[in-house]
Amino acid sequence: MQFDVKPSTNPVPEAERTALIAQPSFGSVFTDHMVMIRHTAEGGWQTPLLTARAPIPMDPASSVLHYAQEIFEGMKAYRIADGSTVLFRPEANAARFRQSAARMAMPDLPPELFVRGVEELVRQDRAWIPTMPGGSLYLRPFMIATEAFLGVRPAREHLFMVIASPVGAYFSGKTEAVTLWVSQTYTRAARGGTGAAKCGGNYAAGLLAQAEATRNECQQVVFLDAAEGRWIEELGGMNVFFVRRDGSLITPPLGTILPGITRDSIMTLARDMGMSVTEQPYAFEQWRADAEGGEVVEAFACGTAATVAPIGRVKFEGGSFEMQSGATAGLVTETLRRALFDIQFGRVADQRGWVHRV
Ligand code: PLP
Ligand code: COI
Repeated sequence: MQFDVKPSTNPVPEAERTALIAQPSFGSVFTDHMVMIRHTAEGGWQTPLLTARAPIPMDPASSVLHYAQEIFEGMKAYRIADGSTVLFRPEANAARFRQSAARMAMPDLPPELFVRGVEELVRQDRAWIPTMPGGSLYLRPFMIATEAFLGVRPAREHLFMVIASPVGAYFSGKTEAVTLWVSQTYTRAARGGTGAAKCGGNYAAGLLAQAEATRNECQQVVFLDAAEGRWIEELGGMNVFFVRRDGSLITPPLGTILPGITRDSIMTLARDMGMSVTEQPYAFEQWRADAEGGEVVEAFACGTAATVAPIGRVKFEGGSFEMQSGATAGLVTETLRRALFDIQFGRVADQRGWVHRV
Protein backbone atom coordinates (compact mmCIF):
# COMPACT_ATOMS: atom_id res chain seq x y z
CA MET A 1 0.00 0.00 0.00
CA GLN A 2 1.31 3.47 -0.92
CA PHE A 3 2.07 5.71 2.06
CA ASP A 4 1.23 9.38 1.87
CA VAL A 5 4.46 10.96 3.20
CA LYS A 6 4.37 14.49 4.61
CA PRO A 7 7.68 15.07 6.42
CA SER A 8 7.78 17.58 9.25
CA THR A 9 8.56 21.14 8.20
CA ASN A 10 9.79 21.84 11.72
CA PRO A 11 11.93 18.89 12.89
CA VAL A 12 13.94 19.11 16.12
CA PRO A 13 17.35 20.66 15.19
CA GLU A 14 20.25 18.20 15.15
CA ALA A 15 22.10 19.62 18.19
CA GLU A 16 18.94 19.50 20.27
CA ARG A 17 18.15 15.97 19.12
CA THR A 18 21.68 14.83 20.01
CA ALA A 19 21.22 16.22 23.53
CA LEU A 20 17.75 14.66 23.85
CA ILE A 21 18.92 11.17 22.91
CA ALA A 22 22.09 11.23 25.05
CA GLN A 23 20.48 9.91 28.26
CA PRO A 24 16.72 9.57 27.70
CA SER A 25 14.60 8.31 30.57
CA PHE A 26 12.12 5.71 29.36
CA GLY A 27 9.29 7.00 27.18
CA SER A 28 9.73 10.72 27.81
CA VAL A 29 11.21 11.91 24.50
CA PHE A 30 9.50 11.48 21.13
CA THR A 31 10.69 11.63 17.53
CA ASP A 32 9.57 14.05 14.80
CA HIS A 33 7.03 11.83 13.03
CA MET A 34 4.13 9.43 13.43
CA VAL A 35 2.15 7.02 11.29
CA MET A 36 -1.66 7.11 11.06
CA ILE A 37 -4.03 4.72 9.30
CA ARG A 38 -7.77 5.12 9.67
CA HIS A 39 -10.27 2.29 9.38
CA THR A 40 -14.00 2.32 8.85
CA ALA A 41 -16.30 -0.70 8.84
CA GLU A 42 -17.56 0.33 5.38
CA GLY A 43 -14.31 1.43 3.70
CA GLY A 44 -11.66 -0.77 5.39
CA TRP A 45 -8.11 0.56 5.86
CA GLN A 46 -7.58 4.00 4.32
CA THR A 47 -4.39 5.44 2.76
CA PRO A 48 -1.59 5.34 5.38
CA LEU A 49 -0.08 8.66 6.37
CA LEU A 50 3.43 9.40 7.65
CA THR A 51 3.38 12.91 9.04
CA ALA A 52 4.82 15.29 11.65
CA ARG A 53 4.09 14.16 15.21
CA ALA A 54 1.25 16.29 16.58
CA PRO A 55 -1.79 16.09 18.87
CA ILE A 56 -4.76 14.30 17.32
CA PRO A 57 -8.18 15.94 17.38
CA MET A 58 -10.81 13.62 18.83
CA ASP A 59 -14.54 13.75 19.32
CA PRO A 60 -15.26 13.63 23.07
CA ALA A 61 -17.72 10.80 22.39
CA SER A 62 -15.00 8.59 20.82
CA SER A 63 -15.55 5.03 22.07
CA VAL A 64 -12.00 4.67 23.35
CA LEU A 65 -12.57 7.46 25.85
CA HIS A 66 -15.57 5.69 27.36
CA TYR A 67 -15.18 1.94 26.91
CA ALA A 68 -11.40 1.68 26.52
CA GLN A 69 -11.30 -0.08 23.17
CA GLU A 70 -7.52 0.25 22.81
CA ILE A 71 -4.62 -2.10 22.07
CA PHE A 72 -0.89 -1.53 21.67
CA GLU A 73 2.46 -3.11 21.00
CA GLY A 74 6.00 -2.47 22.24
CA MET A 75 9.02 -3.15 20.05
CA LYS A 76 12.47 -1.71 19.40
CA ALA A 77 14.67 -0.64 16.47
CA TYR A 78 18.40 -1.13 17.02
CA ARG A 79 21.42 0.30 15.24
CA ILE A 80 23.62 -2.75 14.82
CA ALA A 81 27.38 -3.26 14.56
CA ASP A 82 27.51 -2.78 10.74
CA GLY A 83 25.64 0.55 10.99
CA SER A 84 22.31 -0.71 9.66
CA THR A 85 18.98 -0.50 11.45
CA VAL A 86 17.02 -3.58 12.45
CA LEU A 87 13.81 -4.62 14.15
CA PHE A 88 13.58 -7.74 16.33
CA ARG A 89 10.84 -10.22 15.33
CA PRO A 90 8.35 -7.56 14.13
CA GLU A 91 6.16 -10.28 12.62
CA ALA A 92 5.62 -11.63 16.14
CA ASN A 93 4.39 -8.20 17.29
CA ALA A 94 2.11 -8.00 14.23
CA ALA A 95 0.67 -11.44 15.05
CA ARG A 96 0.09 -10.52 18.70
CA PHE A 97 -1.52 -7.22 17.64
CA ARG A 98 -3.94 -9.27 15.56
CA GLN A 99 -4.79 -11.46 18.54
CA SER A 100 -5.29 -8.41 20.77
CA ALA A 101 -7.53 -6.79 18.13
CA ALA A 102 -9.66 -9.93 17.86
CA ARG A 103 -10.08 -10.08 21.66
CA MET A 104 -11.10 -6.40 21.85
CA ALA A 105 -13.54 -6.64 18.91
CA MET A 106 -11.38 -4.33 16.79
CA PRO A 107 -10.56 -4.59 13.06
CA ASP A 108 -7.86 -6.91 11.80
CA LEU A 109 -4.77 -5.03 10.63
CA PRO A 110 -2.90 -7.12 8.03
CA PRO A 111 0.55 -8.01 9.46
CA GLU A 112 2.28 -6.60 6.33
CA LEU A 113 0.65 -3.22 6.95
CA PHE A 114 1.62 -3.29 10.65
CA VAL A 115 5.27 -4.04 9.80
CA ARG A 116 5.31 -1.53 6.94
CA GLY A 117 3.96 1.22 9.21
CA VAL A 118 6.70 0.56 11.74
CA GLU A 119 9.38 0.41 9.02
CA GLU A 120 8.27 3.71 7.48
CA LEU A 121 8.54 5.51 10.82
CA VAL A 122 11.92 3.94 11.63
CA ARG A 123 13.32 4.91 8.22
CA GLN A 124 12.11 8.48 8.62
CA ASP A 125 13.32 8.90 12.22
CA ARG A 126 16.37 6.63 12.34
CA ALA A 127 18.59 9.58 13.38
CA TRP A 128 16.78 9.38 16.73
CA ILE A 129 18.24 5.97 17.64
CA PRO A 130 20.48 6.63 20.66
CA THR A 131 24.18 5.91 20.17
CA MET A 132 24.91 5.03 23.80
CA PRO A 133 25.51 1.33 24.54
CA GLY A 134 22.21 -0.52 24.86
CA GLY A 135 20.23 2.39 23.42
CA SER A 136 17.35 1.78 21.03
CA LEU A 137 14.29 3.37 19.49
CA TYR A 138 11.19 2.14 21.33
CA LEU A 139 8.22 1.84 18.97
CA ARG A 140 4.66 2.06 20.10
CA PRO A 141 2.10 0.90 17.53
CA PHE A 142 -1.45 1.22 18.87
CA MET A 143 -5.07 1.28 17.80
CA ILE A 144 -8.00 3.20 19.27
CA ALA A 145 -11.76 3.20 18.62
CA THR A 146 -12.64 6.67 17.28
CA GLU A 147 -16.33 6.34 16.48
CA ALA A 148 -18.40 9.05 18.23
CA PHE A 149 -21.04 6.80 19.76
CA LEU A 150 -22.06 6.12 23.36
CA GLY A 151 -23.88 2.83 22.80
CA VAL A 152 -22.00 -0.21 24.01
CA ARG A 153 -20.99 -2.28 20.98
CA PRO A 154 -17.77 -2.66 18.95
CA ALA A 155 -16.96 0.69 17.30
CA ARG A 156 -17.15 1.09 13.53
CA GLU A 157 -14.26 3.56 13.18
CA HIS A 158 -10.69 3.09 14.34
CA LEU A 159 -7.28 4.68 14.10
CA PHE A 160 -3.97 2.79 14.01
CA MET A 161 -0.87 4.80 14.83
CA VAL A 162 2.85 4.34 15.43
CA ILE A 163 4.97 6.70 17.52
CA ALA A 164 8.62 6.33 18.54
CA SER A 165 10.71 7.20 21.59
CA PRO A 166 14.51 6.95 22.02
CA VAL A 167 15.25 4.89 25.15
CA GLY A 168 18.01 3.54 27.34
CA ALA A 169 17.53 1.29 30.37
CA TYR A 170 13.98 0.89 31.70
CA PHE A 171 15.01 0.56 35.34
CA SER A 172 17.09 3.25 37.02
CA GLY A 173 17.74 1.75 40.46
CA LYS A 174 21.04 1.79 42.37
CA THR A 175 21.65 -1.89 41.70
CA GLU A 176 21.28 -3.83 38.52
CA ALA A 177 18.92 -6.32 40.18
CA VAL A 178 15.37 -5.15 40.76
CA THR A 179 13.18 -5.49 43.85
CA LEU A 180 9.65 -6.80 43.35
CA TRP A 181 6.45 -6.35 45.31
CA VAL A 182 4.01 -9.26 45.42
CA SER A 183 0.50 -7.87 45.42
CA GLN A 184 -1.85 -9.88 47.61
CA THR A 185 -4.64 -7.35 47.11
CA TYR A 186 -4.90 -6.76 43.38
CA THR A 187 -4.99 -9.17 40.45
CA ARG A 188 -4.42 -8.48 36.78
CA ALA A 189 -6.41 -11.06 34.83
CA ALA A 190 -8.92 -13.84 35.26
CA ARG A 191 -9.93 -16.81 33.11
CA GLY A 192 -11.91 -15.54 30.14
CA GLY A 193 -10.64 -11.99 30.64
CA THR A 194 -8.15 -9.93 28.65
CA GLY A 195 -4.88 -11.01 30.31
CA ALA A 196 -3.41 -12.38 27.08
CA ALA A 197 -4.27 -9.24 25.09
CA LYS A 198 -2.08 -6.14 25.10
CA CYS A 199 -4.86 -3.70 25.86
CA GLY A 200 -4.57 -0.45 27.78
CA GLY A 201 -7.23 -1.49 30.30
CA ASN A 202 -4.95 -4.22 31.70
CA TYR A 203 -2.39 -1.57 32.57
CA ALA A 204 -4.95 0.87 34.00
CA ALA A 205 -6.17 -1.94 36.28
CA GLY A 206 -2.59 -2.60 37.39
CA LEU A 207 -1.63 0.98 38.27
CA LEU A 208 -2.77 0.86 41.88
CA ALA A 209 -0.78 -2.32 42.44
CA GLN A 210 2.25 -0.66 40.83
CA ALA A 211 1.76 2.37 43.10
CA GLU A 212 1.65 -0.02 46.08
CA ALA A 213 4.95 -1.49 44.86
CA THR A 214 6.50 1.97 44.57
CA ARG A 215 5.31 2.87 48.07
CA ASN A 216 7.11 -0.22 49.31
CA GLU A 217 10.28 0.81 47.44
CA CYS A 218 9.87 -1.89 44.80
CA GLN A 219 10.27 -1.35 41.06
CA GLN A 220 7.65 -3.77 39.75
CA VAL A 221 4.64 -5.64 40.97
CA VAL A 222 4.22 -9.43 40.76
CA PHE A 223 0.65 -10.48 40.04
CA LEU A 224 -0.73 -13.74 41.40
CA ASP A 225 -3.64 -15.59 39.79
CA ALA A 226 -7.14 -14.24 40.36
CA ALA A 227 -8.79 -17.57 41.31
CA GLU A 228 -6.57 -18.72 44.19
CA GLY A 229 -4.19 -15.83 44.77
CA ARG A 230 -1.44 -18.39 44.78
CA TRP A 231 0.17 -18.89 41.38
CA ILE A 232 2.70 -16.45 39.96
CA GLU A 233 1.50 -14.95 36.70
CA GLU A 234 3.74 -12.09 35.54
CA LEU A 235 4.89 -8.60 36.46
CA GLY A 236 3.12 -5.33 35.62
CA GLY A 237 5.04 -5.03 32.34
CA MET A 238 7.16 -8.13 31.89
CA ASN A 239 7.26 -11.93 32.13
CA VAL A 240 9.24 -13.84 34.73
CA PHE A 241 11.65 -16.80 34.83
CA PHE A 242 13.12 -18.80 37.73
CA VAL A 243 16.46 -20.62 37.60
CA ARG A 244 16.91 -23.78 39.64
CA ARG A 245 20.18 -24.81 41.23
CA ASP A 246 20.68 -27.38 38.42
CA GLY A 247 20.45 -24.61 35.80
CA SER A 248 16.94 -25.51 34.56
CA LEU A 249 14.32 -22.82 34.03
CA ILE A 250 10.68 -22.46 35.06
CA THR A 251 8.25 -19.89 33.69
CA PRO A 252 4.48 -19.59 34.25
CA PRO A 253 2.32 -21.03 31.44
CA LEU A 254 0.35 -18.95 28.93
CA GLY A 255 -3.37 -18.37 29.39
CA THR A 256 -4.03 -15.28 31.47
CA ILE A 257 -0.59 -13.69 30.90
CA LEU A 258 0.82 -11.72 27.99
CA PRO A 259 2.59 -14.08 25.56
CA GLY A 260 5.88 -12.17 25.63
CA ILE A 261 8.10 -12.20 22.58
CA THR A 262 11.14 -11.88 24.82
CA ARG A 263 9.79 -14.82 26.87
CA ASP A 264 9.47 -16.91 23.74
CA SER A 265 12.95 -15.88 22.52
CA ILE A 266 14.54 -16.70 25.88
CA MET A 267 12.91 -20.14 25.92
CA THR A 268 14.24 -20.83 22.42
CA LEU A 269 17.76 -19.62 23.23
CA ALA A 270 17.86 -21.58 26.50
CA ARG A 271 16.68 -24.80 24.85
CA ASP A 272 19.17 -24.34 22.01
CA MET A 273 21.90 -24.09 24.66
CA GLY A 274 20.71 -27.40 26.10
CA MET A 275 18.94 -25.97 29.14
CA SER A 276 15.67 -27.48 30.29
CA VAL A 277 12.73 -25.03 30.32
CA THR A 278 9.32 -25.89 31.72
CA GLU A 279 6.19 -23.78 31.47
CA GLN A 280 4.45 -24.75 34.66
CA PRO A 281 2.34 -23.17 37.39
CA TYR A 282 4.66 -22.02 40.16
CA ALA A 283 3.26 -20.90 43.51
CA PHE A 284 4.53 -17.81 45.28
CA GLU A 285 4.99 -19.80 48.53
CA GLN A 286 7.05 -22.33 46.59
CA TRP A 287 9.27 -19.57 45.19
CA ARG A 288 9.87 -18.30 48.69
CA ALA A 289 10.68 -21.79 50.02
CA ASP A 290 12.90 -22.57 46.99
CA ALA A 291 14.78 -19.26 47.30
CA GLU A 292 15.29 -19.70 51.04
CA GLY A 293 16.28 -23.35 50.62
CA GLY A 294 18.74 -22.67 47.80
CA GLU A 295 16.70 -24.68 45.27
CA VAL A 296 15.98 -21.63 43.09
CA VAL A 297 19.08 -19.46 42.85
CA GLU A 298 18.23 -16.80 40.24
CA ALA A 299 15.11 -15.14 38.84
CA PHE A 300 14.71 -12.57 36.12
CA ALA A 301 12.10 -10.38 34.48
CA CYS A 302 12.00 -10.02 30.70
CA GLY A 303 10.26 -7.87 28.15
CA THR A 304 10.94 -5.46 25.31
CA ALA A 305 11.18 -2.38 27.52
CA ALA A 306 12.90 -4.12 30.44
CA THR A 307 15.12 -6.43 28.33
CA VAL A 308 16.40 -9.01 30.86
CA ALA A 309 16.47 -7.72 34.44
CA PRO A 310 17.77 -9.84 37.34
CA ILE A 311 15.49 -10.00 40.38
CA GLY A 312 17.42 -9.44 43.61
CA ARG A 313 14.81 -9.17 46.30
CA VAL A 314 11.11 -9.91 46.74
CA LYS A 315 8.89 -8.13 49.24
CA PHE A 316 5.33 -8.83 50.34
CA GLU A 317 2.99 -7.80 53.13
CA GLY A 318 4.82 -8.93 56.25
CA GLY A 319 8.12 -10.12 54.85
CA SER A 320 10.77 -10.38 52.15
CA PHE A 321 13.38 -12.75 50.78
CA GLU A 322 16.46 -12.46 48.61
CA MET A 323 17.74 -14.36 45.63
CA GLN A 324 21.14 -15.97 46.03
CA SER A 325 22.43 -14.01 43.01
CA GLY A 326 22.03 -10.78 45.04
CA ALA A 327 22.40 -7.34 43.50
CA THR A 328 23.71 -8.47 40.11
CA ALA A 329 22.76 -10.99 37.40
CA GLY A 330 23.44 -14.66 38.12
CA LEU A 331 25.31 -16.79 35.61
CA VAL A 332 22.27 -18.19 33.76
CA THR A 333 20.53 -14.79 33.62
CA GLU A 334 23.71 -13.17 32.29
CA THR A 335 24.29 -15.93 29.72
CA LEU A 336 20.77 -15.64 28.32
CA ARG A 337 20.81 -11.86 28.36
CA ARG A 338 24.10 -11.77 26.47
CA ALA A 339 22.82 -14.30 23.91
CA LEU A 340 19.71 -12.17 23.30
CA PHE A 341 21.60 -8.86 23.08
CA ASP A 342 24.20 -10.37 20.75
CA ILE A 343 21.43 -11.17 18.27
CA GLN A 344 19.52 -7.89 18.73
CA PHE A 345 22.64 -5.76 18.31
CA GLY A 346 23.98 -7.84 15.40
CA ARG A 347 27.09 -9.11 17.20
CA VAL A 348 26.42 -12.71 16.17
CA ALA A 349 24.85 -14.18 13.06
CA ASP A 350 21.06 -14.49 13.24
CA GLN A 351 20.21 -18.14 12.58
CA ARG A 352 16.51 -17.92 13.31
CA GLY A 353 15.26 -15.14 11.05
CA TRP A 354 14.61 -12.88 14.05
CA VAL A 355 16.53 -9.85 12.78
CA HIS A 356 14.58 -7.75 10.29
CA ARG A 357 16.54 -5.11 8.38
CA VAL A 358 14.75 -1.82 7.79
N1 PLP B 1 3.91 -8.90 30.21
C1 PLP B 1 3.41 -7.65 30.19
C2 PLP B 1 2.24 -7.34 31.05
C3 PLP B 1 3.98 -6.68 29.34
O1 PLP B 1 3.50 -5.45 29.31
C4 PLP B 1 5.10 -7.03 28.54
C5 PLP B 1 5.71 -6.05 27.66
O2 PLP B 1 5.38 -5.89 26.55
C6 PLP B 1 5.57 -8.35 28.60
C7 PLP B 1 4.95 -9.25 29.44
C8 PLP B 1 6.72 -8.80 27.74
O3 PLP B 1 6.35 -8.90 26.40
P1 PLP B 1 7.41 -8.68 25.25
O4 PLP B 1 8.57 -9.56 25.59
O5 PLP B 1 6.72 -9.12 24.01
O6 PLP B 1 7.79 -7.25 25.25
C1 COI C 1 6.98 -3.27 26.63
O1 COI C 1 7.92 -3.89 27.14
O2 COI C 1 6.98 -3.00 25.44
C2 COI C 1 5.81 -2.87 27.41
O3 COI C 1 4.80 -2.58 26.84
C3 COI C 1 5.88 -2.83 28.87
C4 COI C 1 5.84 -1.50 29.52
C5 COI C 1 6.50 -1.67 30.86
C6 COI C 1 6.41 -0.36 28.79
